[in-house]
Amino acid sequence: MSRSITDVLVLGSGIAGLSAALGAARKGASVTIATKATRPEGASTWWAQGGIAVSRKEPEQFQRDIIAASSETSDPDAVEVLVQHADAAVRDVLIDTLDIGFDTGGNGAAFDYGREAAHSADRILHVDASTGKHIHIPFLNYLADHERVEIRDDTAALELLREGESVTGALLESDGTAGPWTAGTTIVATGGIGALYGQSTNPRGATGDGVAMAIRAGAAVDDLEYVQFHPTVCVESGDPFLVSEAVRGEGALLRNANGERFMPAYHEDAELAPRDVVARAVEQEHEETGQVVLDVSPLDFASTFPDLMSLCEDNGVDPSTGIPVVPAEHFLCGGIDVDTWGRTTLDRLFAVGECARTGVHGANRLASTSLLEGLVWGLRAGEAAANGSVSSPDSSTMVETGPGPSPEVLQSAVRRIRDVMDTHVSLRRTAGGLETAAATLQEVAADLDAAVTPPVSRAASEVRSACTVGLRIAEAARANDRSIGCHYRSDVPAEVPAATDADA
Ligand code: SIN
Repeated sequence: MSRSITDVLVLGSGIAGLSAALGAARKGASVTIATKATRPEGASTWWAQGGIAVSRKEPEQFQRDIIAASSETSDPDAVEVLVQHADAAVRDVLIDTLDIGFDTGGNGAAFDYGREAAHSADRILHVDASTGKHIHIPFLNYLADHERVEIRDDTAALELLREGESVTGALLESDGTAGPWTAGTTIVATGGIGALYGQSTNPRGATGDGVAMAIRAGAAVDDLEYVQFHPTVCVESGDPFLVSEAVRGEGALLRNANGERFMPAYHEDAELAPRDVVARAVEQEHEETGQVVLDVSPLDFASTFPDLMSLCEDNGVDPSTGIPVVPAEHFLCGGIDVDTWGRTTLDRLFAVGECARTGVHGANRLASTSLLEGLVWGLRAGEAAANGSVSSPDSSTMVETGPGPSPEVLQSAVRRIRDVMDTHVSLRRTAGGLETAAATLQEVAADLDAAVTPPVSRAASEVRSACTVGLRIAEAARANDRSIGCHYRSDVPAEVPAATDADA
């Protein structure tokens, strides 16, 4: 690593990190993006299917939907910021700057706005059902050519650096050596926590690094118990793959092993009920009858969702007989506590995207709001961060990372973490199970700490992060004895959100 000082250091390269980099660079700051991803697929954004919601000049209705899906737990001020800036940010960055070709109605007609669960209107911009990669790749290319932005891939953040109450950069690792990277402001955009669970829609590198680093640095975190599971993930063969909610938006139905359509018995909005409700119903029907399939016969699946059709074919799944689905971990609604500009509780530290808790999602996130939140908060945080000044000298002493625990020790720790998260900190939780989970994760953490020599290797750091965040999720879930949104305690009756007020 040659130069190791920058105005703004962005950790992560999904839509939130890239938007933050863009926001800061537009304000004249020098920006370094450090990402452990080596290919675009390393960021969750690449995997996003459904799309990005916009308000279509009906902000109040959009706000109401977000708040209703969260069972009235979203922060209304944060929701207002998201919705008020949605259309302008999408137009500015995605359409005017990156020229993303969102699907249109054909013959030059306006956009083909899609519908997903718990939305009361068609308002989702998409490119087929693989919107993420169509945004992510042009965004990366645009910033790679930007004179004020440097992208360092295969570069992991191991620790945030602090001077008193201020964050002054991060300890970055690349090729087995680590060194401090000094920054006026640091923006954490490291994504989610899918790797803590056996099945997830995230890339396997989603080990919660940013949340763990922020916790270790003393930043406040909140709402960690709200881990969202996507109801329709196909795990038949190969890697699990998401079957977008957009497919249910187009009319697909959920059926159990007896061929019965079951969702109307669970919620008035049936297949388009809030995601937490559908996910628990799918899990229950799967347990009781042995299988749940997504019946795509009500729509022309192959022509409406050609990318999903290819995914099915690549994985040996024949959609005409129903796509077998289970719920799988999808999104962390809570995270590092931030204000409406992405500022954390620590000076010169910002957080954006899935690792941040803006308050928009509360206990359950409305579909197709995560790319939007990453875009809006990313731009805002980037702009605000560009005003930070570098006060620390450039200090680029590089040291080799410690050998750390053996691969066998790390693999065993990963197995224990996933096992306990899947069993006790999943869709249905109990007080006793959460207590067991917390005790086990404390043991895993102690075993790892005993085996780790600083500066820790990337592999050991990732497992430590997963353990730190898993433990904090289990503790947050233990402390919350309401069954609400994604946090469902089978020992407490659920508070189910009302049906949507659909206009179309
Ligand atoms: C999906 O396409 O179903 C996922 C959309 C989202 O998580 O917002």
